[in-house]
Amino acid sequence: MENKRIVIAVDGFSSCGKSSFAKLIAKKLGYLFIDSGAMYRTVTYALIKENLISNGKVNMEQLPSFLASLKVGFKLNPELGKHEATLNDVVVENAIRTLEVSNHVSIVAAIPMVREKLVREQQRLGEDKGIVMDGRDIGTVVFPSAELKLFMTAEPKIRAERRRLELEQKGEQVTFEEVLANIEERDHIDQTRDASPLRKANDAIVLDNSHMTIEEQMVWVEKLIEERVK
Ligand code: CDP
Repeated sequence: MENKRIVIAVDGFSSCGKSSFAKLIAKKLGYLFIDSGAMYRTVTYALIKENLISNGKVNMEQLPSFLASLKVGFKLNPELGKHEATLNDVVVENAIRTLEVSNHVSIVAAIPMVREKLVREQQRLGEDKGIVMDGRDIGTVVFPSAELKLFMTAEPKIRAERRRLELEQKGEQVTFEEVLANIEERDHIDQTRDASPLRKANDAIVLDNSHMTIEEQMVWVEKLIEERVK
């Protein structure tokens, strides 16, 4: 009997390795992997570039027309075999990962108008199933009937060190304290916002990967997937 194509939602706190995990699961299953956070980052990057954020506030007057003109998407990089975030069809994958974008993204992601636009696009990407998407509201809002929902967490200090290392490898020199402060602030804003706050869906399975390797995570998830695709 042929396996069923399912939807896998991976939600959780900032910097706990959701994207790396989701990407590996997608590769194993031959599914599409979508990092929904990249879309919020792309909008944030565009707003910063156009000077539409100042003193931590978004220019709400100009936001509707600006958003309407904005095309946020992904393009397959055939060499790397992965989808990269695009803004108006231009790849912005590196530009959206800076600490500057991280420092503004949660206030942008809290705006309902921004969420409506991106959620619609995310749901469209999942129409044919066979997708692994990571984010904050995937199991609760984007795909409430996903066959498998994971909720990831890890100790904040471990998450901060992982992210600091990742930024360092990309050539961005930031301190552990700066990264930790950003993670804690984003977690706070993400959990307390009115629009689709970060929370575990009732039927999500929790994974604390503080002391797990990615290989151990793969072994852990394999059985869960198997039960659902049969
Ligand atoms: O840095 P990290 O990989 O943990 O975060 P991300 O997945 O790149 O997401 C960046 C930010 O976008 C989050 O801190 C949230 O504020 C927002 N986000 C969201 O609100 N909903 C999603 N589905 C994904 C991200």
